[in-house]
Amino acid sequence: MDERRKILQEIIQDIKAHTCSLRSGCKQAVPGEGNPASPIVFIGEGPGRWEDEQGRPFVGPAGKLLNELLVEIGWKREDVYITNINRCRPPGNRDPLPEEVAEHSEFLRRELELIKPKLIVLLGRHALNKFLPNEQISKCHGRAKRKGREVYLAIYHPAAALHNPNLMGALREDFKKIPLILSKIDELPPAAAGPTSAEVMPPAQQDPLF
Ligand code: URA
Repeated sequence: MDERRKILQEIIQDIKAHTCSLRSGCKQAVPGEGNPASPIVFIGEGPGRWEDEQGRPFVGPAGKLLNELLVEIGWKREDVYITNINRCRPPGNRDPLPEEVAEHSEFLRRELELIKPKLIVLLGRHALNKFLPNEQISKCHGRAKRKGREVYLAIYHPAAALHNPNLMGALREDFKKIPLILSKIDELPPAAAGPTSAEVMPPAQQDPLF
């Protein structure tokens, strides 16, 4: 096993073994999964019923749609890394509280530090709020943004598009941009802004890619 997979296994073990305020109310903690050498990481909100049952991220209807979207751009789920900001299903599937998300932040920090993805895809408003708290998903979806050394792309959450079919077209269109964005990331100039301020990439870089 290579060093990256070994470290990922340690993170996974720590997630499975942790005790947080939500842990006693759910079946199991759900770690991320996929390729730790992936240039791209997808970050969702947190486990729902199916994920809580199986202990794997995105295995319910939203996961099925995510898998389909990956196939549509010629990728396989195993090629990428898929994780969540929250690791334990809140009671009744309610939204996680900010302090509950904060209890899991260290796991996500360790995953991102290990993988060092070129592109972080934020699935929905909860993941967006964590990384780019001043942005709104309805305004910034499909536009790559740099914050410090990271490049983020927020898109609608697959579950939101299943719930509201009006969002499905935007989700599909935004998803299709991912390979092109990824291929152009190395050409982008270094971020001028400091690590705390999110910056839309310059219009010349945005059009037509961002
Ligand atoms: N929704 C998420 O945000 N994460 C999952 O793992 C499943 C559904």
